[in-house]
Amino acid sequence: MIFYFSGCGNSRHVAETLAEKLNDTLVFIPEAARGGLYDYTLAEGERLGFVFPVYSWAPPRLVLDFVKRLKISKPDYVYFACTCGDECGQTEAIFRKALKEKGWELTSCFSLIMPETYIAMGGFKLDTEENAKKKIVAADATLARNLPRLVNKERFSEITVGSFAWLKSHVINSGFNRYATDDSKYRSTEACVHCGQCVEVCPLKNIVLENGRPKWQGHCTICMACYHHCPVNAIQYGKATEGKGQYYFGR
Ligand SMILES: Cc1cc2nc3c(=O)[nH]c(=O)nc-3n(C[C@H](O)[C@H](O)[C@H](O)COP(=O)(O)O)c2cc1C
Ligand code: SF4
Ligand code: SF4
Repeated sequence: MIFYFSGCGNSRHVAETLAEKLNDTLVFIPEAARGGLYDYTLAEGERLGFVFPVYSWAPPRLVLDFVKRLKISKPDYVYFACTCGDECGQTEAIFRKALKEKGWELTSCFSLIMPETYIAMGGFKLDTEENAKKKIVAADATLARNLPRLVNKERFSEITVGSFAWLKSHVINSGFNRYATDDSKYRSTEACVHCGQCVEVCPLKNIVLENGRPKWQGHCTICMACYHHCPVNAIQYGKATEGKGQYYFGR
């Protein structure tokens, strides 16, 4: 069984590939959480996997919250695959601790460097199209290399940690979660064609259309899916996203 979260499709691509190759069931975390579905049964010897993007050098809060509430009898093989733009900081240590608090042990994990999606602050920008393509080719190769290791239930850790990991994953991460997940900075411009695509793609159902224009509801995870999927680029986050372009997996 694979529990996954994805805003812009990178992690969905990874989760779908793993599910197909491992013949596993996929569960989309926000949907399960909305339905209060936390109780699952694994078959004898079944692997338990998690796939998610790295947010501010850590697993997204909604993923950690879901793990905390999950009710499954102790799995014998637990792994995660995370996607990131360049580095994961202490994502592994944080996820390990979350599992340990449940009495579980993380067996394996690996990271995949994929196209950047976060641009809601000055200084952050998307990859060039060429670089994004290169990242996807390399990520697919890493995924293919690690698949047999999961099949054979190997114990391994292959994470791109990066510099100043503790500082980023704890100090900056807590600032990010407190101050940078505010959706009141989202706005739609006059270019909006009232198509409702932003409503459709929001994994948290955090957008409603009011007079044909999106209205954000205050429970956002800043996954950027609404911004990147708008067909006319009518969504902006303050001034930070202006002129920065759009990306989602398969665009
Ligand atoms: C809110 C947010 C925070 C992010 N923080 C990081 C980070 O700390 N390190 C990193 O390398 N990439 C970071 N990224 C980039 C994503 O992890 C990366 O693009 C990921 O593949 C997106 O996955 P998705 O398409 O499944 O949503 C961040 C993206 C978002 C939206
Ligand atoms: S996706 Fe863009 S154009 Fe469509 S309703 Fe949302 S803001 Fe308007
Ligand atoms: S409102 Fe936009 S950024 Fe926030 S969770 Fe929904 S799609 Fe993601």
